[in-house]
Amino acid sequence: MIDRGGKFNTDSKALVNRIDAHSAFGTNDLNSWILGNLNLSTGCRVLDLGCGTGKQSIAIAEKIGESGAVTSIDLSDESLKTLRTEAEKLGLTDRISATKSDLDNIDGVIEENHYDNIVSSYALYYCSDPEKTFSTLYDALKPGGVIFFCGPSRENNSEIKSFHYSLAGVSPQMETFASRFMEDDGPEQVKSVFQNIEIREFRNPLKFDSSDALYKYWSSYNLYDEELDSIFKERAALHFQSHDHFETVKRVIGIRAIKPSQ
Ligand SMILES: C[S@@+](CC[C@H](N)C(=O)[O-])C[C@H]1O[C@@H](n2cnc3c(N)ncnc32)[C@H](O)[C@@H]1O
Repeated sequence: MIDRGGKFNTDSKALVNRIDAHSAFGTNDLNSWILGNLNLSTGCRVLDLGCGTGKQSIAIAEKIGESGAVTSIDLSDESLKTLRTEAEKLGLTDRISATKSDLDNIDGVIEENHYDNIVSSYALYYCSDPEKTFSTLYDALKPGGVIFFCGPSRENNSEIKSFHYSLAGVSPQMETFASRFMEDDGPEQVKSVFQNIEIREFRNPLKFDSSDALYKYWSSYNLYDEELDSIFKERAALHFQSHDHFETVKRVIGIRAIKPSQ
């Protein structure tokens, strides 16, 4: 049984905090990389799994024009509400269908032979039967359609992990269930359905400029441990007495596959 436990898996506020931190302190743009791995054109249909507040869905909807359509799926009511509000503000309501579903029950909400692209950023590992999910997604793609999903590598954020585990006085634990999926199980499972896959990598150094910013990020991240809260604040403040920033690197793995054209 895979341990999918995580404090903030479906927490909308924590997700927004992390997205804001990536944009304020990041060096490279993850969203541009994700969109560049899709095959987006005017009028295409896209399925976004674990869409959250719509970071990818909104950008995709803007790119595919009025005749395109994005089906955005998530389990969090709050995140879906944020996505709908943002879509309305930007005049994208007709292009985005924000749908509540567990990744384990998408059969009932998606269509077969319908999508030109399927994308999932930091979410696909939350499904409990990936092989079944990949097979459903294969059927959902049109021939020639692209699936691209991404998530953390084992070495992701090793700097903040090392800092965190040093406070707990234990050796750093780099692997998470998500990184195990992205590096080991996921590629094998996609290969068994799609035959050919490509693995791509992306790095985004985050340079926090204050102990408050570092704390805010850590306390919105699954690594967060309430028992370490005050010592984290103390040591973060200490770090900034002799450094002007704290750097951790988001190391991302992307897996891309194409459904063969008939
Ligand atoms: C890390 S967020 C990623 C959101 C968005 N794709 C992004 O990159 O900004 C993971 C998302 O997966 C959703 N999620 C977690 N478990 C899920 C499940 N079992 N079914 C559907 N969505 C789920 C969460 O609610 C959350 O919005």
